[in-house]
Amino acid sequence: MIVELKDIFKSYSEGEDNPRRDILDSFNLSINFDESISIVGPSGCGKTTLLNILGTLDKPDSGEVVFNGELVTNMNDDQLSKLRAEKIGFIFQSHHLLPQISVIENVILPTLAVNSKQNNTIIFDEAETLLSEVGLKNEVNKFPSQLSGGEKQRVAIVRSLINKPNLVLADEPTGSLDKSRGEEIIDLLKSLCVNNQTSLVVVTHDIEIASQMKRRLCFKNFDFIES
Ligand SMILES: Nc1ncnc2c1ncn2[C@@H]1O[C@H](COP(=O)(O)OP(=O)(O)OP(=O)(O)O)[C@@H](O)[C@H]1O
Ligand SMILES: [Mg+2]
Repeated sequence: MIVELKDIFKSYSEGEDNPRRDILDSFNLSINFDESISIVGPSGCGKTTLLNILGTLDKPDSGEVVFNGELVTNMNDDQLSKLRAEKIGFIFQSHHLLPQISVIENVILPTLAVNSKQNNTIIFDEAETLLSEVGLKNEVNKFPSQLSGGEKQRVAIVRSLINKPNLVLADEPTGSLDKSRGEEIIDLLKSLCVNNQTSLVVVTHDIEIASQMKRRLCFKNFDFIES
């Protein structure tokens, strides 16, 4: 199991006079190595909240998060940062590339957070190979502003994979793309994750994209249930 959520509760305050709103209520989920899962549901139902808990960016009110056999809930901020940098890749709805550095520099940025014994040449070579694999061989030295939306999202995918994470979490990675570009990006993401033996969780509004994942979590009756 790469990640397990056990009996998770998460609620948010909606102002002093209102009761807290439950987002996750005694929620359980186990994700196996190599598995792909989609999460679908209406806006505001808690998809990003769930992804953030899986990615240790947010803490549940109660319950246990176990990542690769280790209990996350008691880790301090330094341990969590290390875990995230080494084991988890994030892809956001808007690509979050830094505009002032080149494509390849954006890709290698997450490697700086990891105590790697690899030298820079090897990391640059790997980044270049991955960028070539996603059809961006001639774009490595360009800046993000010189790329289309789909190209930027491909850079974000490569960046999420550069540290060979065990888990990739993607929050509406095709949200800013048209349907055919979106499907291309998902095919690419899926095949890269299969090649790297990386588990994949994708939040999406697109039912076709959702159905391409091995498992599907749907928000129904105020809970995420498997469909
Ligand atoms: N930090 C926060 N403080 C208070 N309420 C929050 C916070 N973060 C999220 N919420 C609320 O929790 C609910 C779930 O939010 P979340 O971002 O997980 O939804 P979502 O399913 O990702 O929605 P969307 O599809 O629009 O991205 C929303 O009603 C939101 O307003
Ligand atoms: Mg969201």
